[in-house]
Amino acid sequence: MNPVYDLEPPEWRDYSDAELKVRIDPCRLPRHIAVIMDGNGRWAQARGLPRVSGHRAGIQSVRETVEGAAELGVPVLTLFAFSTENWRRPRDQVDALMDLLVEYVDREIGTLLKNDIRFIPIGRLFQLPPHVQAKLAWAQDQTARGRGLLFLIALSYSGRVDVVDAVRSIARQVQAGCLSPDCIDEQVIAAHLYTREVPDPDLLIRTSGELRISNFMLWQLAYTELWFTPIYWPDFRKRHLYMAILDFQRRERRYGTVPSTPEPVSSGTFS
Ligand code: FPP
Repeated sequence: MNPVYDLEPPEWRDYSDAELKVRIDPCRLPRHIAVIMDGNGRWAQARGLPRVSGHRAGIQSVRETVEGAAELGVPVLTLFAFSTENWRRPRDQVDALMDLLVEYVDREIGTLLKNDIRFIPIGRLFQLPPHVQAKLAWAQDQTARGRGLLFLIALSYSGRVDVVDAVRSIARQVQAGCLSPDCIDEQVIAAHLYTREVPDPDLLIRTSGELRISNFMLWQLAYTELWFTPIYWPDFRKRHLYMAILDFQRRERRYGTVPSTPEPVSSGTFS
């Protein structure tokens, strides 16, 4: 087995969902979990189904992940649902994804409201079909008073586009004389990103066995803990979310400093 997948100690696999859940320390939850929901097409292909069936099946995983994060008290969850690169997919697949999104919002709005969840779409939303933009704006408005989980959904989003749009916005402020170039620091840049309202992710989950970031939150993931699993997104359930969080809680985050307990001297420079 690829050692990178040794993120789930064998005993965890025998635990029930409830047994995994009680092992999570509620005082050390990630403040923000970001998810790359990959492997929907392959899940469908493996069953001889059209790709859209994989995306449709993935809705149940979205449901479980949102519910699981809300129940635990995770403050922020971001799901990467459509990248700027995804526009290059065949038209019927793009249309099917847009339809699924609208269907999801219609079906889940009641649950989001009941669970005090605030729904915030991010990305180049103006590139989405007008009826999708309207539905997302409606859901954002309906849930604006939510004080529980902040549920961000990244659409027509990519990490580089996020930086490009932030730079444009900062440049406009400089041009207008509202900001001196010497005052541009990391905080200013972060304040112009699509994620400006939330902390950087503490934990990134990617399904489907791909070990890549794929142009997702390039600035924000600088110190994020990464958790990869070979399972396809439509098979992702609450127990996988619990395992990712448990593994996160086993890690020591150093942010480039020395470890909190003495360690033998090594030749490595970076943490
Ligand atoms: C990548 O899998 C995932 C996507 C392009 C979109 C994911 C969208 C959903 C699961 C459904 C809609 C989401 C919400 C929140 C309503 P892929 O299609 O590239 O799979 P592959 O890598 O196996 O081809």
